[in-house]
Amino acid sequence: MKQIRTICLASCLLLALSCQEPKVAGTIGADAEVERRVDSLLSRMTLSEKIGQMNQVSAGGEVSNYADALRKGQVGSILNEVDPVKVNEFQRISVEESRLGIPLLVARDVIHGFHTVFPIPLGLASTFDPALVEEGARVAAVEATGQGVRWTFSPMLDIARDPRWGRIAEGSGEDPWLDARMAEAMVYGYQGRQLDATSMAACIKHFAGYGAAEGGRDYNSTFLTERQLRNVYLPPFEAAVKAGAMTLMTSFNDNDGVPSTGNVFLVKDVLRGEWGFDGLVVTDWNSMGEMINHGFGENRKDVAQKSLEACVDMDMMTYGYLSHLEELVRSGAVKESDIDQAVRNILRVKFLLGLFEDPYVDVEAGKTVQYAPEHLAAAQKTAEESAILLKNDGILPLDPASVRNILVTGPLADAPHDQLGTWVFDGEPAHTVTPLRALQERFPGKVTYVPGLVFSRERKARFDDVVAAARRADVVLAFLGEEAILSGEAHSLADLNLKGSQSELLAALHATGKPVVATVMAGRPLTIERDLPHCRALLYAFHPGTMGGPALANLLLGDVNPSGKAPVTFLRTVGQVPLYYSHTMTGRPYNGETLLDDIPLSAGQTSLGNTSYYLDYGAYPLFPFGYGLSYTTFAYSDITLDQETYPTDGTVKVTFTLANTGKRSGTEVVQVYVRDLVGSITRPVKELKHFERITLDPGESRTVSVGIPVQDLAFVGLDGVKKVEPGEFQLWVAGDSASGTPVTFEVR
Ligand code: BGC
Repeated sequence: MKQIRTICLASCLLLALSCQEPKVAGTIGADAEVERRVDSLLSRMTLSEKIGQMNQVSAGGEVSNYADALRKGQVGSILNEVDPVKVNEFQRISVEESRLGIPLLVARDVIHGFHTVFPIPLGLASTFDPALVEEGARVAAVEATGQGVRWTFSPMLDIARDPRWGRIAEGSGEDPWLDARMAEAMVYGYQGRQLDATSMAACIKHFAGYGAAEGGRDYNSTFLTERQLRNVYLPPFEAAVKAGAMTLMTSFNDNDGVPSTGNVFLVKDVLRGEWGFDGLVVTDWNSMGEMINHGFGENRKDVAQKSLEACVDMDMMTYGYLSHLEELVRSGAVKESDIDQAVRNILRVKFLLGLFEDPYVDVEAGKTVQYAPEHLAAAQKTAEESAILLKNDGILPLDPASVRNILVTGPLADAPHDQLGTWVFDGEPAHTVTPLRALQERFPGKVTYVPGLVFSRERKARFDDVVAAARRADVVLAFLGEEAILSGEAHSLADLNLKGSQSELLAALHATGKPVVATVMAGRPLTIERDLPHCRALLYAFHPGTMGGPALANLLLGDVNPSGKAPVTFLRTVGQVPLYYSHTMTGRPYNGETLLDDIPLSAGQTSLGNTSYYLDYGAYPLFPFGYGLSYTTFAYSDITLDQETYPTDGTVKVTFTLANTGKRSGTEVVQVYVRDLVGSITRPVKELKHFERITLDPGESRTVSVGIPVQDLAFVGLDGVKKVEPGEFQLWVAGDSASGTPVTFEVR
């Protein structure tokens, strides 16, 4: 660790004294003209006006409540105002009635859609389709900027390997490579490939390590080593910075004793220094003030100073900068040049977004883009690609021609609010199309609806009505899962089974002998092992959003073939946490040793294997990362490499044949995994290094070549330097993280 620190410090030497940053990869795209305008404006600002720019407030209630502060130039950004008329009034006061006329940055948590709600981010990740995710983020930007929002607090890039953590819903799951690709897609989508009036600045968050909260309890401490941070938790952030993300948010957690908002190493040294980030860094909501609770500062003045020293530009809702920076400058405790640097970073974003040219939103035009048909179509396509088929004995797809009497049941069958998922401030349940509605439209007069349970948490001892209805049906479609309130911020759970009496409902339906198909809509991978025997097929949809109903109907009926893959490991039981595919290898790997259930109940048994596993649950998950079935089958063959040995600057070209061996056209998410067999530190047993979606007709096969740059195999090893270590590697091409036979190559 010491070595890494030394190297980092050396590389950051020039940056050590202030928040100045070099212009290298990672700049958000400002040009000389923008820099000139920033500097010219800055030179005319008083200290108090500069500090005002560094203050972000939540705007609830009347505009007049804030008018005075805006006139005095005490607010740089507001969040949570999406009434375009009020937004225009906020801007008008700032531009026309403040001394320097600096427009506001208007921010909102637009996390997976604005009005048109897309699947939750974990569902976006399960599409393994960055182009589609970019399209969705563009839709969100067009709708949100249509109401004056020019800054979203998304994407969340926290790697999450603990499904107890409610915010696992908000990210891309457990894998840095997948997360990084989703990060880039969302940055491009929100901001647009070219900046214009529909560009919404992305905010990559939460920097950093927040998803590793101990025990999965939100806001909890993390204890990630610098190497883990650099090899697992930071790469998605670096990718997003390279993609041009304009802003970044610090996280609530303290890592190894240092809260992120005051973390000089993370923000100043790595983000600013090593990556050259000249975008805007904002705190999380009162995370500056919460450093007092952490015991990292005595009072608000102290934590304001620590935040500035870490190169954090804007204070969300602590009022620490506004109240104390002036005094801190006057006393000599902080340098005005550091404040200048922060203000530059803020103004740069405002100039780039064109707010100085036109801070206003066209209220009437904005109305026309909300819930536009093409937006709803994109949301539906995303929901279709995101659902993961986890079990199918052949009952799916249902044959529409043979459907006479469908029983639709379960608490998520007609839950317009809950299927939208967490972080939905603006999507309205009135626009949600539920599975019940979609199926009723599709099969008029043939659908019976008996919910069985109204809420996912409801408990019931008997299911007489729904069981009687099941007996009269040809097929039972049960929509189970989690209410939206069960995942998201501060919504962690210690038990990951289906809540309430949902498992009992499924078992009762199954006991009728009628074919039961389960669809789960949830904010996390639940532990559904006990439910699998009670359904003939199971489709897993992370809360699918506005168009979830038609999407799921299309999947169940075979109009669309499932192609979603698990972006996170599905556990058998919560006691397996953490269990993820890219773990390192123990000295005593599990080798299929005896499980407790196989041991007779007799005294005298002393040894059960001496390897790494649970006596009661073994070593494996329920479904591995990357897993997902289709209505067709795929076969991989002839996996070959173009060379046996590659230089460190080379590209591994792997060629393989993928065949659709089933009877339907379908899309396979091809995944390439690599293992570095021997390193200066132990390396993960597999790491995803490439994925792509390939669509094939029945009987069709295609020979595909993929290039993996050897540099993508680099990691931070024992010497603290990120590089490729020569040696032997294994490479898999497969449909999930647990399949395939490796080929080997060497790097010299
Ligand atoms: C969350 C952030 C969010 C912010 C603003 C905080 O509680 O952690 O993710 O962007 O609130 O709403």
